[in-house]
Amino acid sequence: MATGSIRSRISGTGHSVPQGILTNADLEKIVDTTDEWITTRTGIRERHKAGKDESLSKFAAEAGRQAIEMAGLKAEDLDLIILATVTMDQPIPATSCFVQEMLGAKKAAAFDMQAGCSGFVYALGVADQFIRTGTYGNVLVIGGEILTKFVDWADRATCVLFGDGCGAVLLTASEGDRGVLSTSLHADGSMADFITLPGGGSKIPVSHEMIDANLHTIKMKGNETFKIAVRSIESACRDAIAKAGLEPADVRWFVPHQANTRIINAVADRLGWPPEEIYLNIDRIGNTSAGSIPIALDEMVRAGKVSQNDVLLFAAFGAGLTWGSALVRW
Ligand code: UT7
Repeated sequence: MATGSIRSRISGTGHSVPQGILTNADLEKIVDTTDEWITTRTGIRERHKAGKDESLSKFAAEAGRQAIEMAGLKAEDLDLIILATVTMDQPIPATSCFVQEMLGAKKAAAFDMQAGCSGFVYALGVADQFIRTGTYGNVLVIGGEILTKFVDWADRATCVLFGDGCGAVLLTASEGDRGVLSTSLHADGSMADFITLPGGGSKIPVSHEMIDANLHTIKMKGNETFKIAVRSIESACRDAIAKAGLEPADVRWFVPHQANTRIINAVADRLGWPPEEIYLNIDRIGNTSAGSIPIALDEMVRAGKVSQNDVLLFAAFGAGLTWGSALVRW
């Protein structure tokens, strides 16, 4: 294949979520909240929650296994595994190396990357570069989180939002016009304090004091984040669509990061997409950060909602702040 004509086609998808479910009614017993507040402000009714002995690699490997199977490939065919997450199994080594071993992907390079809730879109953009340059033929991109082990169960503003789960796509080098058409990735570190987990790194290392000060859990300035999210996602969507020489009306499916139905609907309104062209699963899955887009995509594919040549637009926004989008022809 001549490198100029190579595209990254999505040859397989998969997803895996813990069996445990935490409903809004369950949360009403833990913090001062109501099902009515959570559903009207966010769209979330329930989310999956990992058990005590379950960690990210279990769900990441299962999502990856399904994607490899759908593509009709073997784990040994993988050249690279990229795992987008902020909730790794442990700080060292990269969780993607555990996943590589669990899958038996002996010849695959593996690394984790962190771009908050935009992690999957960023990882897709990076994987696409490896494929377009002819460096690799099969790249497994996994996004996912076990966020419920990092939330403050006394903070009603954040603990009601997050859920656990992983999704995966397998990108395969192909000729033709199907595959990743364009990506648009952005960051603005001046708003780094909007979504944080301050403790446990080299700045504030693990200590009893750090834990007593509750610096080991996620903090979010939700309202400030909300205000920036809509216009940033809109702009990244328009950018990816323009780069591909298309119009918003050419998009068959908007598959957004599932953080808040109000954000998603506001973006769709601005771009003229009707509700039947937006895929939502936030009511059942909650906000799984880097997991939300690939989980949604796999649900859509397995439900037969995506047809050959459909144009799909993925878009996300999260800690960093980071945001981005990716346009794909199925
Ligand atoms: O995924 C990564 C990126 N993250 C996002 O995109 C999240 C963006 N932000 C949001 O989705 C929304 O800002 C939230 C859903 C997090 C919050 O919704 P909001 O409409 O922005 O609410 P708010 O933070 O302005 O709070 C409104 C009120 C406050 O009470 P007062 O001060 O008006 O009396 C909060 O204390 O709602 C209160 N509140 C709650 N009440 C019941 C906050 N959380 C809860 C809760 N239950 N769980």
